[in-house]
Amino acid sequence: VREVTLGLLGCGSVGSAILELLERRRQTFADMGVRIQVAGVLVRDASRPRDVPRGTPLTDDPSFLNKCAVVIEVMGGTERPLELLRPYLCSGRPVITANKALLAECWDDLRPFALAGQLYYEASVMAGTPVIGPMSTVLRASTFQRFQAVVNGTCNFILTRMEQGLDYPEALAEAQALGYAEDPPTLDVGGFDSAHKLAVLARFCADGRFPFQAVSVQGIEHLTQPDIQAAAARGERYKLVAELMRTADGKEDSWEGWQAKVHPLSLPGDHALCSTAGSRNAMLFEGDECGPLLFAGGGAGGMVTASAVVGDLLDWLIGFPGHVPLHGPEEGLGAETNCG
Ligand code: NDP
Ligand code: HSE
Repeated sequence: VREVTLGLLGCGSVGSAILELLERRRQTFADMGVRIQVAGVLVRDASRPRDVPRGTPLTDDPSFLNKCAVVIEVMGGTERPLELLRPYLCSGRPVITANKALLAECWDDLRPFALAGQLYYEASVMAGTPVIGPMSTVLRASTFQRFQAVVNGTCNFILTRMEQGLDYPEALAEAQALGYAEDPPTLDVGGFDSAHKLAVLARFCADGRFPFQAVSVQGIEHLTQPDIQAAAARGERYKLVAELMRTADGKEDSWEGWQAKVHPLSLPGDHALCSTAGSRNAMLFEGDECGPLLFAGGGAGGMVTASAVVGDLLDWLIGFPGHVPLHGPEEGLGAETNCG
């Protein structure tokens, strides 16, 4: 039996579900000849009682990272996870993350490791609904034209509950209680989480260097109950939509021939993106050769996210590389990381 030492950064909604799923999949790992040994679980407050398997090595000391063969990062934020992961990545080891803020905002630091196949991040966009997998593999054979997507579960949940008559603050509180929202929730309702996800996806279909700053962002905070009800009376539904499309070079809001924006749209009730309610997500992807494709499914929540994280872990154990973004001829797997 091959013993694999794993480190977990974060034990909140997602981290605790990962620990539970690792237990549930114990036999799957055994069938592969693998035993996962959790070497440490990093939290802020290790003394707080938590619903985790007995013997979970909770700690506020990240030194266990030194002995890990693989690390899963689900702590959120940007500066602290980058500080912890950079030396680890520089040692050539793999990282699995659900943290789209980190990926979107620290891409200059992380891109060399993604090019080297060390970064796995299916869970970072649409949680357990696989879109990064297809976009980083088979969909590259098609000429990409555009996507329109509902990628934030919290906003979709809030808008759905407001359609049902709830006020905005109550709907947000429910989303937070269900473990969907970011800390702080401004990341969700201000549209920034959707923009993070848009930037992550753009690197597979538009340009591997796509900067987060190129996304124009508008959230849902200004939408009122009368707006939602007026849309319903017209047979429409409000959705927070992340859109990426080709555009004329030099056009305002354009980056290297691409326009990227996050904004609330009132869509006809029979639009493909309206089929998704609550915390579910959906993406309408259009490529010349593959035609229009619709991806839909769970977009937020502990276990649905854990399913993609543990899926990435299985991919790494099988020997698949991580998610490699678009790149030039001199880059790609085996790329040099700038570790100095
Ligand atoms: P939570 O806030 O529930 O959990 C965060 C965890 O990280 C907590 O255990 C916290 O410790 C720990 N942590 C945070 N900062 C530090 C720090 N500086 N040092 C040590 N420990 C720290 O977040 P979620 O589980 O909801 O999300 C985690 C990540 O997954 C985020 O990047 C999020 O964007 C992403 N994600 C979340 C989804 C969801 O539906 N929730 C879906 C897809 C991705 P303590 O418990 O002691 O406070
Ligand atoms: N806060 C995020 C959302 C979590 O609501 O979509 C999933 O990425």
